[in-house]
Amino acid sequence: MQEDNFKVTPWEVTGKVDYEKLIQQFGTQKISESIMKDISKVSRDRMHVMLRRNIFFSHRDLDLILKDYREGRGFFLYTGRAPSMGMHIGHLVPFLFTKWLQDVFDVNVYIEITDDEKFMRNQEYTLKQTSEWAHQNILDIIAVGFNPDKTFIFKDTEYIRNMYPLVASIAKRLNFSQVKATFGLDVSSNIGILFYPAIQIVPTMFEKARCLIPAAIDQDPYWRLQRDLAESLGYHKAAEIHSKFLPPLASSDGKMSSSVPESAVYLSDPPKTVEKKIMKYAFSGGQATTELQRKLGADLNVDVPYQWLYYIFEEDDEEMKRITSEYSSGKMLTGEIKKILAQKVNELLEEHRKRRDMSEKMYSKFLYEGKLAKQMWEKIHS
Ligand code: TYM
Repeated sequence: MQEDNFKVTPWEVTGKVDYEKLIQQFGTQKISESIMKDISKVSRDRMHVMLRRNIFFSHRDLDLILKDYREGRGFFLYTGRAPSMGMHIGHLVPFLFTKWLQDVFDVNVYIEITDDEKFMRNQEYTLKQTSEWAHQNILDIIAVGFNPDKTFIFKDTEYIRNMYPLVASIAKRLNFSQVKATFGLDVSSNIGILFYPAIQIVPTMFEKARCLIPAAIDQDPYWRLQRDLAESLGYHKAAEIHSKFLPPLASSDGKMSSSVPESAVYLSDPPKTVEKKIMKYAFSGGQATTELQRKLGADLNVDVPYQWLYYIFEEDDEEMKRITSEYSSGKMLTGEIKKILAQKVNELLEEHRKRRDMSEKMYSKFLYEGKLAKQMWEKIHS
């Protein structure tokens, strides 16, 4: 059998991902025209740029979510984050999209902050560190603009008491070989990591309604386990909507990752740093000389500035068309597209920082005092 030259797991994405193949490998569905139509009926023809451009490209049971919504049974959203020192632009993707879904469908959102997962996965990290990162990451997530009365953000180490009875029921239904096979663990893996999937699964059962999870497709293995056991506990199989990965700056392979700092743009990077990183490290599909570029144009398939603009930073379809045609024909040079991108990234980050300055004031509301947060602290999930 021919080996694929890419790999996607919850911890690692390498190679040039073939998303068509991934849909087959994982057994998910493409987002069909009819699903797009159903969403646009609710969103009154406003379509999120990441849906229009097929960045959110795959799903499980999204049709059932829309049916439940139409027929009045409703649904809820769930997503999460394993906190690290700084969030990069790729991490914003699922949160921006989840906020849009919340606005369109007016539904509850649960955001799990897995300070335990991060701690257990890396021998060097202390719980004090992951808890501090959790706090900082939550400020970034709040800045995305969720509805404070319909959003509950929780840290695993804090909220575990309320979740534990249901975590135990889930853990009892997962055996070693299932978890080992799903996540590629072995007998030397610490038992915390082996147990952890039960904790990531539990929020899919925070309500009796169906749960929709927006995330990059790397998280899918967790939901496969969830879908095997949910009905035996009286819950729905989780529905999912999956995004592609924002590529790292230095290559169009893999995903942007915090562990390669020059290849990521962090939400805290000041404008000069952003400009420098993009001008210096962004992998270009442009030709080696101006003359050749004018003659042959750029290879958009590998050009990272182009892909970032397409993915998230240039929402205007007309402007994107212009960039596509001018850059691929050679009218536009690499330096020019990089400048356009640096400006767009800095605009988004400036807005983000302004909102983040207000986040601390909203912190308690999202974690403890908002309408949904209060309800959740009163509830023991069993
Ligand atoms: P984490 O912290 O690795 O990633 C957080 C979210 O960001 C997505 N993501 C990306 N999306 C686009 N481009 C990228 N380059 C990129 N890198 C990361 C991830 O898919 C994820 O949605 N175990 C989880 C935390 C978690 C969770 C969840 C995530 C707990 N519950 C429910 C999603 C849904 C984690 O380590 O995420």
